[in-house]
Amino acid sequence: MLIDFAQVPSACFVLEETRLRRNLEIMQQVQQASGVKIILALKGFSMFSVFPLVRQFLQGTTASSLNEARLGYEEFNDEVHAYCPAYFNDEFDEMLKYSNHLTFNSLNQWNKFKGRIRENPKKISCGLRINPEYAEVETDLYNPCAVGTRLGISAEYLGDTLPEGIEGIHFHTLCESDSYALERTLRVIEDRFAPLLHQAKWLNWGGGHLMTQAGYDLKHLIELVKEFRAKYQVEIIMEPGSAVAWETGYLIATVEDTFDSKGIHAVVLNISISAHMPDCIEMPYKPRVLGATDAVPGKPAYRLGGLSCLAGDFVGDYSFEQPLKVGDRIVFNDMMHYTMVKTTFFNGVRHPSIGIWREDNTFELVAQPGGYQSFKDKLS
Ligand SMILES: Cc1ncc(COP(=O)(O)O)c(C=O)c1O
Repeated sequence: MLIDFAQVPSACFVLEETRLRRNLEIMQQVQQASGVKIILALKGFSMFSVFPLVRQFLQGTTASSLNEARLGYEEFNDEVHAYCPAYFNDEFDEMLKYSNHLTFNSLNQWNKFKGRIRENPKKISCGLRINPEYAEVETDLYNPCAVGTRLGISAEYLGDTLPEGIEGIHFHTLCESDSYALERTLRVIEDRFAPLLHQAKWLNWGGGHLMTQAGYDLKHLIELVKEFRAKYQVEIIMEPGSAVAWETGYLIATVEDTFDSKGIHAVVLNISISAHMPDCIEMPYKPRVLGATDAVPGKPAYRLGGLSCLAGDFVGDYSFEQPLKVGDRIVFNDMMHYTMVKTTFFNGVRHPSIGIWREDNTFELVAQPGGYQSFKDKLS
């Protein structure tokens, strides 16, 4: 489908409904062929205006805070699986209200809260996050298995028996990974945690499975799920965020100013890389821009930068067919996951609007977040 970007206000995150449905259909195919339960990781993608569509395919949400658990409970209306590095005394009763599964990050946390779970009339299935001490992630910022990590319990602290009341095992070590990285991880886990796998009712394989990317070996994934279900008689759960929203939308921005800065064309956009697409700086990575390429010799290089005072608030140098001028639209590709959920009010910059390019080829503006009151509410 061709989006008419001229109909979209700037700045705006625009989700393309057709592409989201396509991703969800792939996930449905995996669920049907393998018996895995796939739930949406809200930390990666929380655009609740499309939950009515997502709900037709996925079986719930996973939450990493009370706010996300409530969003899943109220807006998605299906199972909420929560995992938080720490639960709080004063929030725990509400957490129990919204959740069906709770995963604990340490034995301390489990011992602290298990009594309250036992006393709670609602049945909550509890699990522990393990640290397989094996991750193929190259960036330390995203490596949950680095020495000294606070994320999950290593085999040596668990022994051969799951604590009474624990029904599930959770791991999350992958990041935009393929099924072969998953398989290598699973083999390490089998090696280190085999007796516990046999005792568990469910295994949550976390997120990081890029099953909607072209070239992902879905057949291999399906075989892995089937193998584990049969071998350990467990339910398998996967909780992707990125894969759900992979390549489903854009961030539209406008050139507000551009001028020569010692041979580079500095560009100020009406968005901030730091405040609206922070992974570009953290990871770091350079998103694709429609109609542009990486800067090439012989063509002017435009350094696309944001509104904040951070010197590094820019995304890189690009070349365009035509010279860029004030008022031109810039369309960043693949901007749905880990963008809207991570925006900040740094420098008080206004948030982009949020819209959907519907399957019937119409544009719907669903939100204009981040007005003065939201900015002020965070301060005092
Ligand atoms: C525990 C857990 N589950 C799921 C996810 C979702 O991962 P992704 O968006 O890479 O699929 C994350 C991401 O950090 C996570 O920490």
